[in-house]
Amino acid sequence: MRLTRYFLPVLKETPSEAQIVSHRLMLRAGMIKQAAAGIYSWLPLGYKVLRNIERIVHEEQIRAGHIPMLMPTLQSAELWRESGRYDDYGEEMLRITDRHGRDMLYGPTNEELITDIFRSHVGSYRDLPLTLYQIQWKFRDEIRPRFGVMRGREFLMKDGYNFDLTKDDALHAYNRHMVSYLRTYERMGLRAIPMRADSGPIGGENTHEFLVLAETGESEVFYDAAILNLTLGERSVDYDSREECSEIVREWTSPYARTDETHDAALFERIPEARRRQSRAIEVGQIFYFGTKYSEPMGAVVQGPDGQQVPVHMGSHGIGVSRLLGAIIEASHDDNGIIWPEGVTPFHCGIINLRQGDAEADAACERIYAALVAAGLDPLYDDRDERAGGKFATMDLIGLPWRITVGPRGLKNGVVELTSRRSGESEELSPEEAVRRVVEIYARPGEQAGR
Ligand SMILES: Nc1ncnc2c1ncn2[C@@H]1O[C@H](COP(=O)(O)OP(=O)(O)O)[C@@H](O)[C@H]1O
Ligand SMILES: [Mg+2]
Repeated sequence: MRLTRYFLPVLKETPSEAQIVSHRLMLRAGMIKQAAAGIYSWLPLGYKVLRNIERIVHEEQIRAGHIPMLMPTLQSAELWRESGRYDDYGEEMLRITDRHGRDMLYGPTNEELITDIFRSHVGSYRDLPLTLYQIQWKFRDEIRPRFGVMRGREFLMKDGYNFDLTKDDALHAYNRHMVSYLRTYERMGLRAIPMRADSGPIGGENTHEFLVLAETGESEVFYDAAILNLTLGERSVDYDSREECSEIVREWTSPYARTDETHDAALFERIPEARRRQSRAIEVGQIFYFGTKYSEPMGAVVQGPDGQQVPVHMGSHGIGVSRLLGAIIEASHDDNGIIWPEGVTPFHCGIINLRQGDAEADAACERIYAALVAAGLDPLYDDRDERAGGKFATMDLIGLPWRITVGPRGLKNGVVELTSRRSGESEELSPEEAVRRVVEIYARPGEQAGR
């Protein structure tokens, strides 16, 4: 993409309505525009990152054996009356009446719809285990939408549902989700800590939230610093192996880590004092095991091996896809702007031409651009006729992790500059070598950002 042909409505002024840095930066970098309270349009740059996050979520779900599908945003109230949640859910549910006077709602979550699909088509234990998921817009009429996409009213969520014959099978599904979520967040350059949580209106006995540490987070958390040393890295995981999944879950849930809702001061005190941490954090996902809470009232039963009809054991799992943009920015920025992790960056590399119109500089930029594209990467070439200072400021603001700067002076010596947004360090390299480095960075496993 060439900046002169793109749509990047960068703001010069700091928007006064934004209270936290991620919201400010998303507005300033031209990623989103508010359409109504808690409802946003995704402008091209924001949409690109949103799609990258979605892609990682899909890839890791499919790797874990879960099956993608799509359910509607508008639902009939009937199913919710059946589960008893039409009345329980309260003011957060946006209720709509259609022209025939039928009660409808904009789905805040989808347990009822998926359970209905399941009971219509699955009748035997032989069809289990089954985990279906979608990435779809949700609406919750939050009383106080705030912090931009972090607490919106309309927001994009990955929601998944597992159906299993026994509690044991469902607990394996729970563990499998925890492992796949850990991998998902890691690929986005995030450290999200699983914490024992409270189940709220979804209900159930087993639940963990995934939290990203950030001063602006809405959750209060308590944890053992030892958990910060854990990473999955390139560890290969057999998601069908109960032992492997439960071993990873054991590893990640052994150190104390809880939200204020489940915090136990006595247990916390047992951690050596130097490792005790209390912090704010952003909830980026949650997994639940809730047994037969929905399958029983809604008749989601299968015939077991012994011919008996039994309600299935279920769980549900959510990732706040749109909230993740805010969480990543909260965790990765500096005074000049966003610093995207390679895994989600909207463009792989920026190219800055210090003297637009200079024949040699223009030609060198074109060659670098073509070479990056030929290698399967997506560069953003700032080909505007603007001062160098303005180009650097825009590039820093939108946060591309790598930048190649091309100018007539360097070219006389056969070099361009490769700069890391994160460290700020620059290296003078031949144009070919700079391209080779960038290509190599994105060839590293787990870091192939998409288009
Ligand atoms: N209002 C919101 N705006 C953006 N993301 C949200 C919002 N509410 C929930 N999410 C995201 O969706 C994920 C799954 O939702 P869930 O756990 O059902 O929500 P909650 O924790 O609000 O009950 C949450 O972990 C969070 O990341
Ligand atoms: Mg939650």
